[in-house]
Amino acid sequence: MSKRWLKEHRKETYYRQAKKSGYRSRAAYKLLQINKKFRIFKANQKVLDLGAAPGGWSQVAVELVAPSGTVIGVDIDPIKPLEGAEFIKGDMTSEDTMDLIKSKIDYADVIISDMSPNISGHYSVDQAKSVYLAEQALDVVVRMLKPGGHFIVKIFQGEDFPEFLQKLKERFEFCKVHSPPASRAQSSEVYVVCKGAYDKR
Ligand SMILES: C[S@@+](CC[C@H](N)C(=O)[O-])C[C@H]1O[C@@H](n2cnc3c(N)ncnc32)[C@H](O)[C@@H]1O
Repeated sequence: MSKRWLKEHRKETYYRQAKKSGYRSRAAYKLLQINKKFRIFKANQKVLDLGAAPGGWSQVAVELVAPSGTVIGVDIDPIKPLEGAEFIKGDMTSEDTMDLIKSKIDYADVIISDMSPNISGHYSVDQAKSVYLAEQALDVVVRMLKPGGHFIVKIFQGEDFPEFLQKLKERFEFCKVHSPPASRAQSSEVYVVCKGAYDKR
């Protein structure tokens, strides 16, 4: 049994599980696995989900912050309505989108970003775009995350990753680079899980 076969098989398994359980994406399992390991979510929190389409992470967040949590999801693409969440169609690189978010919530307890660029196939280009999106998410953290709050961000590993990680370490008590089992094993995406935002106001 080759390594490649095992990876493909695992990917397929999460895809089938997601379809069966009603999750909109295989990515939902990544968030469940991250939460199981790092205990990010609690009842009644306010969550901001960046790059939320088609809504798998938002579904998980809605479940984990029930009964009185708030989940706001943002994406360039439209997202089908989901009970317990509110969606904004907007580009996270635009200030107008920030204004829309602020009209819904004034702070977040948890910010999660699964934003990915459209893959061009040229790794250095895609990686640079991924870092740019992660930087945008960090900007939202600086502006909206409550002191003590948590942040999960996806990023493609590359040359400028250590510098980005350093910025995160300056803002949080705990930062860990993590690759959940449901992540595509062949991709170089990782998640940085950050807990306990310092009060830098
Ligand atoms: C991997 S998908 C997210 C999957 C989602 N977490 C789920 O579980 O359903 C990445 C998303 O990032 C979004 N995205 C990329 N660039 C963005 C931007 N500048 N602003 C908002 N969303 C963006 C894409 O449209 C895409 O839907």
